Amino acid sequence: MIVAPPRQAIVLLVTRHGGSLACRLQRAKEGIVAGRVADKVVLVTGGGSGIGRAAAALLAREGATVVVTDLNRNGGLETVQQIGGAASFLPHNTASDEDWRRVIADVLAEHGRLDGLVNNAGVSGPYPSTFESEDIELWRRIFAVNVEGVFLGCKHGVPAIRDSGGGSIVNLSSLAALVGTPELSAYGASKGAVRQFTKTVAMQCARKGYKVRCNSVHPGVIDTPMGGLLMKSDEMRERVRKRIPLGELGRPEDIGYGILFLISDESRYMTGAELVIDAGMSAI
Ligand SMILES: NC(=O)c1ccc[n+]([C@@H]2O[C@H](COP(=O)([O-])OP(=O)(O)OC[C@H]3O[C@@H](n4cnc5c(N)ncnc54)[C@H](O)[C@@H]3O)[C@@H](O)[C@H]2O)c1
Repeated sequence: MIVAPPRQAIVLLVTRHGGSLACRLQRAKEGIVAGRVADKVVLVTGGGSGIGRAAAALLAREGATVVVTDLNRNGGLETVQQIGGAASFLPHNTASDEDWRRVIADVLAEHGRLDGLVNNAGVSGPYPSTFESEDIELWRRIFAVNVEGVFLGCKHGVPAIRDSGGGSIVNLSSLAALVGTPELSAYGASKGAVRQFTKTVAMQCARKGYKVRCNSVHPGVIDTPMGGLLMKSDEMRERVRKRIPLGELGRPEDIGYGILFLISDESRYMTGAELVIDAGMSAI
C-alpha cells in the first residue's frame, strides 16, 4: 500500500528550499523538465560583458539564481536586464578583499546560500606586450585582477559554498596558460598561475572533505571586447582566424556551455581539471 506523505512534510520541503522546489513542482506539473542547475545560487564575476555575460545567461536559463558582479555597473545592469527575473547585480572590484567580503555577505543575506562561483573577471593589458617592453606596474595591475582576484574569490567563496552543502568553483584561465605567449607576457603568466592555483584549491577542499570542486576553463580566441584587443583591424582578425584549426573565432556561449557543465552536478566527478575550449589551438 502506498501511503501519501503527510501534508506538513511537503510544506517543510517547499519552505526549506526557499520556494524554488514549489516552482519546480509547478514546472513538473506543466511538463517542463527542471534545468541543469535548478535551485543553485551562482555568483559570476565580470558578468557585465563577453564570456561572463553569456555564462550568466545560460546558468539562468538552466534554472540558477544568478548574481552578476562587475566593476562596470552599466554592463552588469545590462546583463541583468537581458536575463530578467532570475538575476541581480552587485558592484564589485574582484581585486579588493573588502569588496569580496561585502559581496559574499550580501549574497548569503539575500539568498541564504551559495552553490557556485565563476571567477571570470579578468584583464589582458595592452597588445602586443613582451616581457622586454613591460614594466613592473603593468605586471602588478594584471596580477591584481587575474591572480589576486581569483585567490580572493576562492578564499571567500569556499567557506560560503562549503557551508551551503558543497558546490563548484570555475576559474577562467586561458589557452595562454598552456603555451608561450611572447606578445602577452604578463597575461600568460597570470593565467598560468590561475591554472596551478585551481588545482591547489581543488586538492585542499578534497582533503578537507568540503565537497567544493574547483576546475579551470581555458578558452582560445573568443569574440568579446577583450578578444577584440588582439584583432584591431579586419586584416588582423582574418590572420587570427586562419590560425584556428576549426577556422572560426569562438563565441562567448562556447565557453558559457563549458562553465554551465562545470557548475552543474553533471561534472560531480571532476575537480582540479582543465577544460580546454579552443577549437584545437593547443593541439597544433
Ligand atoms: N576573450 C578571449 O579570447 C579570452 C581567452 C581566454 C581567456 N579569457 C578570459 O575569460 C574571462 C572573460 O573574458 P572576456 O573576453 O569576456 O573579457 P571582457 O573584457 O569582455 O569582460 C571582462 C569583464 O570583467 C570585468 N572586470 C575587469 N576587471 C574587473 C575587476 N577588477 N572586478 C570586477 N570586474 C572586472 C570587466 O568590466 C568586464 O565586464 C577573462 O578572465 C579572460 O582573461 C578570454
